[in-house]
Amino acid sequence: MILSATPKWSAPALRPYLPKDLAILLRIVRASIEQLASEDYSENQIKAWIEAFDDEPAFAKRLESGLTLVATLEGLPAGFIALKGKDQIDLLFVAPGVARRGVATTLVDAIEKLAQARGVSALHVEASDCAVPLFSVRGYEPQRRSSVSLGDEWLANTSMTKTLGASPAPLH
Ligand SMILES: CC(C)(COP(=O)(O)OP(=O)(O)OC[C@H]1O[C@@H](n2cnc3c(N)ncnc32)[C@H](O)[C@@H]1OP(=O)(O)O)[C@@H](O)C(=O)NCCC(=O)NCCS
Repeated sequence: MILSATPKWSAPALRPYLPKDLAILLRIVRASIEQLASEDYSENQIKAWIEAFDDEPAFAKRLESGLTLVATLEGLPAGFIALKGKDQIDLLFVAPGVARRGVATTLVDAIEKLAQARGVSALHVEASDCAVPLFSVRGYEPQRRSSVSLGDEWLANTSMTKTLGASPAPLH
């Protein structure tokens, strides 16, 4: 089961990814692409994007190889973010039932703070068309439009970058 809208709203909690999350995160990926990205991409592009996650071991490796944070609401995963290397946001997905409630904002904010604390000077993302408004609001600057090949389809995205401030001096 993935989260659906609840009248009661509480702020998401964050925790690191655990291998037991794999199945639910995959369900979040498929549901969010299907329901949240369908205004920006064609039916065939949506299908190709979802199919790109059919290789579960490869998806698990992507989640495990970098820093992955899971946002939970009422104890259930509501979305997640994965960082590739030190400075590339690789994955960001939110369950459609709790979209526009700040789950992605909480995740991106946390990853920015962690990156900044590790001395990273800028974060990069290949933002899907439905994620561009979110990253723009958070101060990411568009660099260029590009396309990614998935199956027989090409999906457009926008390379965006945010310069992070200097890491705060340690407290004494
Ligand atoms: C993009 C996505 C992660 C946003 O998640 P979210 O939790 O709904 O985002 P938030 O609630 O934190 O949104 C914060 C702000 O970003 C902007 N925003 C987010 N989604 C938006 C949309 N679909 N249209 C316009 N603005 C949007 C708004 O300014 C929003 O603030 P508001 O709700 O007060 O107006 C989610 O829609 C998703 O999973 N999409 C499908 C997968 C995807 O494209 N992932 C990104 C890969 S780079």
